[in-house]
Amino acid sequence: MSAETLDRGLVLDSVRVTEIAAIAAWSLVGRGDEKAADQAAVDAMRTALNDLEIDGEIVIGEGERDEAPMLYIGEKVGRGGPAVDIALDPLEGTTLTAKAMSNALTVMAWAPKGTLLNAPDTYMDKIACGPGYPAGLIDLDASPGENVQALARARGVDASQITVCVLDRPRHGEIIARLREVGARVHLITDGDVAGVINTADPDTGIDLYLGQGGAPEGVLACAALKCVGGQFQGRLVFRNADERMRAERCGITQLDKKYDLHEMVRADAIFAATGVTKGVLLDGVRLKNGFVHTHSMVMNSFTRTVREVRMKRPV
Ligand code: FBP
Repeated sequence: MSAETLDRGLVLDSVRVTEIAAIAAWSLVGRGDEKAADQAAVDAMRTALNDLEIDGEIVIGEGERDEAPMLYIGEKVGRGGPAVDIALDPLEGTTLTAKAMSNALTVMAWAPKGTLLNAPDTYMDKIACGPGYPAGLIDLDASPGENVQALARARGVDASQITVCVLDRPRHGEIIARLREVGARVHLITDGDVAGVINTADPDTGIDLYLGQGGAPEGVLACAALKCVGGQFQGRLVFRNADERMRAERCGITQLDKKYDLHEMVRADAIFAATGVTKGVLLDGVRLKNGFVHTHSMVMNSFTRTVREVRMKRPV
């Protein structure tokens, strides 16, 4: 199936899926219950997907079959139609939602069957920058300082003009120190590295580079977005124990230390959609106004390189 078919048939459908999940999660914003918020988004997303005329298979989902009753890896969704791989994170930022903090999103991507990396639910070392730079400019195996310097040279600015987004975690202490050593600005986020990566592609965010370790599934979703807007990404799976290695093997990964680039993680044209749950850098959150619920989404298609912003309102 071509990506054109995906575009014609499914671009708007994908936004409907993320919108419905965002509205469901929004009812749990600020209630301190991460699990309930995630479950609401999962239920809503699954119902919406099952209503679509697709032959979908979840390749990035809520976990393996024995630990996730819904939207587990390998679950089939849809009423029949074009065969698609689906990557989703029904609620990217469960803590952000539970604490009513900024930047919680609902996210999904799809691509023709067999073209998304079946990433296990492990960590991944990631580096990303936006479009317009020479290929191979950034490298996971170079030091944080070298990557900043390379980007600064390509931009024709001093390293002090480069801003790097990093998840605020103790494991990133060394990276943060090295970045500050070369004079870069470090933009720390508490959660949500899908948006952290996407922000590198939007000059308005002021983020030039993303660096650090986050979820591997989130890495695939971020790559689907970068595939649409351009940019560079490299990721390498990180294993903390034998069980995580086995998870990767069950996903069909044989070369456990492989450094993946964007086009190895998303091997064909893809569609990416996200809806804001709480207000953030990328998107506004769900709002209730005059008896209507309002949502703000983005949907992008790598085949046409289109990026649409979608605002929806409907009676409550
Ligand atoms: P959730 O979908 O579980 O809310 O993930 C949020 C997130 O911040 C991701 O964006 C990121 O990839 C991952 O968690 C980082 O994991 P950890 O919190 O273990 O550092």
